[in-house]
Amino acid sequence: MGREVMTAERFTMERLSDPAGFKAQMTRDVRRGLTADKKSIPSIYFYDDHGSELFEEITLLPEYYLTRAETEILEAHANGIMSSVQPDELMEIGAGFARKTRLLLSAMHATGSGSRYVPIDVSDAALKHAGDALTTTYPWLTVDAYVGDFLLDLHRVPHQGRRVVAFLGSTIGNLPPDERGSFLKEVASSLNPGDVFLLGVDLVKDEQAMISAYSDAQGISAQFNKNVLTVINRTLDGDLPLDAFEHETRYNEACSCMEQSLRATRDISASLAAIDLHLEIANGESIHTEFSCKFTSDSISQELIDAGLSVSSVLTDRLDQFALVVAAR
Ligand code: SAH
Ligand code: AVI
Repeated sequence: MGREVMTAERFTMERLSDPAGFKAQMTRDVRRGLTADKKSIPSIYFYDDHGSELFEEITLLPEYYLTRAETEILEAHANGIMSSVQPDELMEIGAGFARKTRLLLSAMHATGSGSRYVPIDVSDAALKHAGDALTTTYPWLTVDAYVGDFLLDLHRVPHQGRRVVAFLGSTIGNLPPDERGSFLKEVASSLNPGDVFLLGVDLVKDEQAMISAYSDAQGISAQFNKNVLTVINRTLDGDLPLDAFEHETRYNEACSCMEQSLRATRDISASLAAIDLHLEIANGESIHTEFSCKFTSDSISQELIDAGLSVSSVLTDRLDQFALVVAAR
């Protein structure tokens, strides 16, 4: 582990847990998830190098309105937010390729704020790509990136001075609903007075629009979903047959969540040799792979208040598809 200086002096990257620790965590999660009555795999395992690239492709799909709507909000409000907070650094949770982040960084610079960007993400490939691209575009920027699980490692990311902490993309909606509250509390308790939390959330809307966003015509969402099986096969020496699963997506009104799963299209006998696990999956059985929960302005504001934050504004795009919530302690 330790801090690595990347391509530029201004870009460093540190792993918060070693690859063996990550594999041990995957072993526990996969064993528990695939031997349960209702099978599931946590969505963190989507994001190997290929999964991160597939997600980037998803953001460009005509059906996937989320990224465009959030970009519109950031274009309209980034300068106002940064000039009122004047942060020393921008921390970003689940930064990925950090494309929309450019709007926040440009606004930081334009308003005479600090020049440090601190992303945390499980994908080292995405962070490497982001750090290289950002330090090339912005010669004034320092990037200190952390590879880790934001559900476990958030408190291990050092910070300096006043911060804007951004959690964009509606990734909060990927947390199982019963884990959201404790995560938001952890974020809240990490904030100092004067810090601001920017949370991007997808809003409840016409069901067909939400369903299309997760079952696009080109089949990229299906590839993204199935990629989790490739990640498990590679890491745990498995032989889960990708061609025996189909991409499944549905809107669960009870939790306002889109849910993704992989449905077996025949009886499957497979094993994960590295962890000595044999699996029998019946034709028609589903493995739950992802929640993508949706919110209303009121529901997310209440969740932030319950976590100990006060909400100063809920900014939306022109079509009210997406919201960026500005909150503080
Ligand atoms: N913020 C970007 C990327 C969103 S995709 C955007 O708005 O477009 C979700 C990102 O969160 C991915 O880069 C993925 O690698 C990361 N991620 C998902 N679960 C994670 C976890 N538990 N810990 C750390 N990173 C995680
Ligand atoms: C990263 N996250 C917010 C995406 C979403 O919309 O839930 C991941 C995704 N899953 C399928 N398509 C996109």
